[in-house]
Amino acid sequence: MHQSMPAAKPRANLRKDPRWVEARFDRIAPWYSVVEPLFFVPSITRREALRSLHCASGDRVLSVGCGSGRSLVQLAGAVAPEGIVHGIDLSKRMLQRAHARLKRNHIANVKLEHLNLFDVDPETRYDRIYFEFSLSSFGDPQAAIQKARELLEPEGVLVVLDGRLPPRFRWLTKPAMPAIRWLLENTVLGDPDMDAAWELERSGMPCRVKWFRGKTYFVACSTEP
Ligand SMILES: C[S@@+](CC[C@H](N)C(=O)[O-])C[C@H]1O[C@@H](n2cnc3c(N)ncnc32)[C@H](O)[C@@H]1O
Repeated sequence: MHQSMPAAKPRANLRKDPRWVEARFDRIAPWYSVVEPLFFVPSITRREALRSLHCASGDRVLSVGCGSGRSLVQLAGAVAPEGIVHGIDLSKRMLQRAHARLKRNHIANVKLEHLNLFDVDPETRYDRIYFEFSLSSFGDPQAAIQKARELLEPEGVLVVLDGRLPPRFRWLTKPAMPAIRWLLENTVLGDPDMDAAWELERSGMPCRVKWFRGKTYFVACSTEP
């Protein structure tokens, strides 16, 4: 009699587990400033993202996955003196770096919190929400976009800065994919199979996208009223 093969056990998506993400970034935190430059992120991308946010004095800004606080000083300056920046991250160690950066720069209008985006009080509203290389770290980017949209004021602006493997070089990267995946997962960028730009498109959120370095890095800015 034909015996059917036992069904393959579905692989759990570790990236959806906040404890896995937290442990990963806690592990990377001491090396983050060393590894990050290896990705040659053009500095114009961060400038463009900050410009697209159109922050004004008095704004409430949510920086999702603020990490070591790369842009917190600029954001704090843009909303000062009355505005406040809420930087949240899953990794305590990344947040420690952000704390040190804010202290060095004598910044007082940033509140850092060890918090999962999905646990942000649903009653809170922000004028600006910024994902800076963090959307690709979410196991469920659709849920993250949805949550951010719920937290955004009707006239608010949502900006996503992120990257992906250059599509032009897929033929080259395909054979090396296991090594690339290991490297990315153990360093700074998110899931190499994750295309944050495509996820944004799929979410149906109307946005304007600017590409950099071929189609590798992008800044997407919501165009909702
Ligand atoms: C690649 S780092 C980017 C850090 C920083 N924004 C930068 O540009 O250097 C991504 C960060 O997103 C955070 N993150 C991932 N999922 C998160 C979640 N659900 N809630 C809050 N932070 C999250 C990670 O802990 C990590 O610090």
